[in-house]
Amino acid sequence: MNARGQEVERRRFDTLVIGAGGGGLRAALQLAQADASVAVVSKVFPTRSHTVAAQGGMNAALANVLPDNWHWHMYDTVKGGDWLGDQDAIEYMCRAAARLVIELEHFGVPFSRLDNGKIYQRPFGGQSQNFGGEQAARTCAAADRTGHAILHALYQQNIRARTHFFDEYFALDLLKDREGYILGALVLCIETGEPLVIEAKTTLLATGGAGQLYRTNTNAHINTGDGMAMALRAGIPLQDMEFVQFHPTGIAGKGMLISEAARGEGGYLVNREGERFMERYAPHAKDLASRDVVSRAIATEVREGRGCGPEGDHVLLRLEHLGADVIHQRLPGIQSMVGTFLRIDPVTAPVPVFPTCHYTMGGIPTNRFGQVVAPERQGPEEPVIGLYAVGECACVSVHGANRLGGNSLLDIVVFGRAAGNHIIEYLKEARYHRPLDPESIEQPLARLARWDERRGGETVSGLRSELQRVMERHCGVFRTEEVLQQGVLEVRELERRLQQVTLSDRSRVFNTARIEALELENLMDVALAAVSSALARRESRGAHSRIDYPRRDDEHWLKHSLYFRDGGALDYKPVRMKPRTVEPFPPQPRVY
Ligand code: FUM
Repeated sequence: MNARGQEVERRRFDTLVIGAGGGGLRAALQLAQADASVAVVSKVFPTRSHTVAAQGGMNAALANVLPDNWHWHMYDTVKGGDWLGDQDAIEYMCRAAARLVIELEHFGVPFSRLDNGKIYQRPFGGQSQNFGGEQAARTCAAADRTGHAILHALYQQNIRARTHFFDEYFALDLLKDREGYILGALVLCIETGEPLVIEAKTTLLATGGAGQLYRTNTNAHINTGDGMAMALRAGIPLQDMEFVQFHPTGIAGKGMLISEAARGEGGYLVNREGERFMERYAPHAKDLASRDVVSRAIATEVREGRGCGPEGDHVLLRLEHLGADVIHQRLPGIQSMVGTFLRIDPVTAPVPVFPTCHYTMGGIPTNRFGQVVAPERQGPEEPVIGLYAVGECACVSVHGANRLGGNSLLDIVVFGRAAGNHIIEYLKEARYHRPLDPESIEQPLARLARWDERRGGETVSGLRSELQRVMERHCGVFRTEEVLQQGVLEVRELERRLQQVTLSDRSRVFNTARIEALELENLMDVALAAVSSALARRESRGAHSRIDYPRRDDEHWLKHSLYFRDGGALDYKPVRMKPRTVEPFPPQPRVY
């Protein structure tokens, strides 16, 4: 029943896709083209999904600029992830990359061009030729607006294929029957506040990451870990949540992304002495070392008093030497953004930068077909029937402990398509909808109703800001046992205070306030997963850097962590080290 005691409206589709970024749209397209009925639910208009903000490009070993092949790309990805990535999934992704870039080109993506007409590719961090040799040029780019170009092309293809869109609908929770099948979701029309049951034979989560956990971040306001929290509430653990990527070059103090493309095109970082300090931290790759390495270097320069500006709290990114033509042609978005937010022209002045939260390597555990696989605690790993996840909300795991720039657009396209194909096969057998028990919608409806009651206390926006500050202080670039322990306590306290929050009179008119409250519940769950997993992992690996455990410890920690919402319990599972067609890359020291 809805708030007026009426039966909640129901719609039925073969597949429900939650999230209209690149992963969701690529999966939806595969399905719609196979004549499945597909609904895409998006809390914003689809072309405003966060994929639109991806700047630098998509990796594929096309070898248009320098020699390359997918096996070198696979090596770089395994090494970039500090050997925590599953090598079968990485192999699958890197092998598929070239074909899927060409497919995107045929969908209408306007990639930048070389003089010979081939797709332009730029150098990005952590990329090499010949298994760790010279810098590679593997990142296929549409200037510095690659995600924008891809998202718009995928949206248009979906319109053509007659995918059904529910724009500005918020997904509350998955619907699950007693046998554990996922049968769709309860969603909320943001405009009217009316709930809607969408029944589906298969549901795919493609809700993106949780960058809003941190005060400075490169993410859209909508990236609140909704799919991850929905999975947690459905009893599914989150994998590897301690691995949060801080992009080295956010606009200092504000967080907006200055693409790695800026360094790929030849930009470099300097400290207050004008020193190119990356030469000390990564003598070979320098400014194009992997992101975790560059972010730690910047944070160390600032901590040790070599930061720039009156507060000594950032470093400078120099682009002036590239010249106006390169900047106009290859980095127009950066030039315009820096002009808007800093009133600086990078053609004539350096840009102040500092690491900013960018990406969650962890997420909902899946196999390489996008099926969600949820182990019972201490039990075997089984697919959750009817549930798929792709993109940043998922952990397949191709990024391991640190993602390489340019691998995220690749991930969403490769695994969006793979999940679509797997669902098509599943639908051939699943010809009828399973009956939906009315009880299964009671819990999400009760969660919604809670925010209709008026209570005394604090505001949602105040608590969200506090959570972001707690995460920044207690789960940042560098971590220790004490700082993390305090982080867990503070997030738990904020979670308790959230129960007391008031929705103001104004918010009783505007549903957006209720949505923000539901988003904050999601952020709290995801924050606890991240900080608890980080506290437990007593080693340094990729983006998880423990000052008190500075070394990688393969003997004890070469394993994925799994965080369960129930009791905040943790469990572990092995890394899949076996590719299918090539030899595995065994762990090695990771130097750039
Ligand atoms: O720096 C960037 O352009 C970001 C790319 C990515 O995260 O893949």
